[in-house]
Amino acid sequence: MCGIVGYIGEQQAAPILMEGLHRLEYRGYDSAGIALATGGELKVFKSKGKVRDLERLLPDHPKGTPGIAHTRWATHGEPSDRNAHPHCDARNRYAIVHNGIVENAGALRAQLEAKGVVFRSETDSEVLAHLIAAMDAETLIEAVRGALRLVVGTYGLAVLDSKRPDTIVVARNGSPVILGIGEHEMFVASDVSALVRHTQNVVHLDDGDVAVVRADGYETFTLDGGPIVRAPLMIDWQVESLSKGSFDHFMRKEIAEQPEAIRRVLSGRLESRFSTTHIGGLEFAARELLEARRIKILGCGSAYIAGCVGAQLIEQLARLPAHAEPASEFRYRNPVIEPDTLYIAVSQSGETFDTLSAVQEVKRKGARVFGIVNVVGSTIARECGRGIYLHAGPEVAVVSTKTFTSTAIAFALFAIYLGRLRDLSAANGARLLTALAALPAQVEAILAQEQKIATLARAFANTRDAYFVGRAAGFPVAMEGALKLKEVSYIHAEAYPASELKHGPLALIAPETPTVIVLPRDELFAKNTSTIEEIRARRGPTYVVTHPGTLPVTVDGVIEVPKSEPELDPILLNIPLQLLAYHVALARGTDIDQPRNLAKSVTVE
Ligand code: G6P
Repeated sequence: MCGIVGYIGEQQAAPILMEGLHRLEYRGYDSAGIALATGGELKVFKSKGKVRDLERLLPDHPKGTPGIAHTRWATHGEPSDRNAHPHCDARNRYAIVHNGIVENAGALRAQLEAKGVVFRSETDSEVLAHLIAAMDAETLIEAVRGALRLVVGTYGLAVLDSKRPDTIVVARNGSPVILGIGEHEMFVASDVSALVRHTQNVVHLDDGDVAVVRADGYETFTLDGGPIVRAPLMIDWQVESLSKGSFDHFMRKEIAEQPEAIRRVLSGRLESRFSTTHIGGLEFAARELLEARRIKILGCGSAYIAGCVGAQLIEQLARLPAHAEPASEFRYRNPVIEPDTLYIAVSQSGETFDTLSAVQEVKRKGARVFGIVNVVGSTIARECGRGIYLHAGPEVAVVSTKTFTSTAIAFALFAIYLGRLRDLSAANGARLLTALAALPAQVEAILAQEQKIATLARAFANTRDAYFVGRAAGFPVAMEGALKLKEVSYIHAEAYPASELKHGPLALIAPETPTVIVLPRDELFAKNTSTIEEIRARRGPTYVVTHPGTLPVTVDGVIEVPKSEPELDPILLNIPLQLLAYHVALARGTDIDQPRNLAKSVTVE
């Protein structure tokens, strides 16, 4: 998704902005650009393609400060040099970079064109530059405020005025803007990863905020009213966690980080004295949680699938009806929101627009919601106001791996807590706490089988279609396995409940269509082995992810994972499927960390 970087201070802006753009590359984008203020003028460079394509356009030591820069992910207008940001007004006095969508851009554009403005791009964003120029205001903030009063839509916005290079003005409505505080210099970004190299002291703006940023500080205002205090916050991200280290890809590094990420999500949260868990950020009185009659989980992509794992954990351990739904669907169907339903919003980034909108809808209708989020201080975390932070460290690869696992574990922590408030016995609580504590070492044992999984992945390298099947607890594992494979390898992969196979997809099973079967040793083991027989009878290749032991059927490949407690088995069964997807993608030579057309956090509808 689109990214913003800005710099104001004594240094030349370009190297800082370009480095910031590189940090934002992981989010997915199709073009990039930079604007520098120098000698009362603007220098603007922009290019379709990667940040390194933009680098080639720049002179050796580009001069100018302050500056703003952008990575664009096309919504209105194809990816092209012209449509890349920054956009300028007709006199090239103002430059803007914009994340989000100006919904009334068509009408505003027509009005501006009627006044003689000639547009240079097809974007909705360009109207902002012309509107700001048309304001004829005393100060940049007044010009920006005046323009934004005419705009319907979402924005994270940074504006530069070449005639007044002592300020950058930023504004936020539905798309993140974060300020970074340095020593006599300030940074602006849409994502903390573009800031951490320079400062860990950051300020998150809220929707409706406008800020004046100067080298020596910042002031925040509401769009229509007076000043408002937005206090800085220290973030705990280390710059090393944003580099690949000895790994070829962030995805591989983040898969390897899982034992440590699990330790962190568990840290301080296992309370063996009462065979329960302790979740500091939840802030619900026990009585409030006991009033809940139903749990509804909302998220998108892998966050939604982690929610499916979570719903099963809650039903099993707390015996409350629980259901996960894609947040994107939920928000559009005028959902029935009942006060005795407890809502859980899941989002790694805490910025996914559909999930945020779902949270706002739930809150608007008066229900309780908490978040399971990785990025501290992110919009969804703040909108929910309470919840469980994953503390998994930054996840840079577009596809989720470690945060999927950490989210599933956060659900286990919550399900045990809720279960122990209800009728989960102390013995069962203790059994699960022991199993949770064992997970990091068990994940290490799975990661040690990487070579075997890589060999097996070769069988998928030339495949066009693949199936992933599982029953009950195995089904979300199959869903996530299929999603991972399609995201990084571009192989068409579909997940089906194993029991549904004969109601349709069996027609497609053939020697060239492999099926991955999630086969825990549980009460459904026999049923699942029958499914394998059905596939084999149609000469479909079969690969199983299972627990150690003899298999009663012949299959084409086996990956074994250590046995946990049945409720936690899905967490471990998923890990080899991450490695499978990674190695299939490696064999196919795809762009693993930034798959085509995908973005890390989808901040538009
Ligand atoms: C995008 C990404 C997915 C991710 C989803 C939700 O679609 O490509 O990998 O699972 O967003 O992201 P979130 O940050 O809300 O967990």
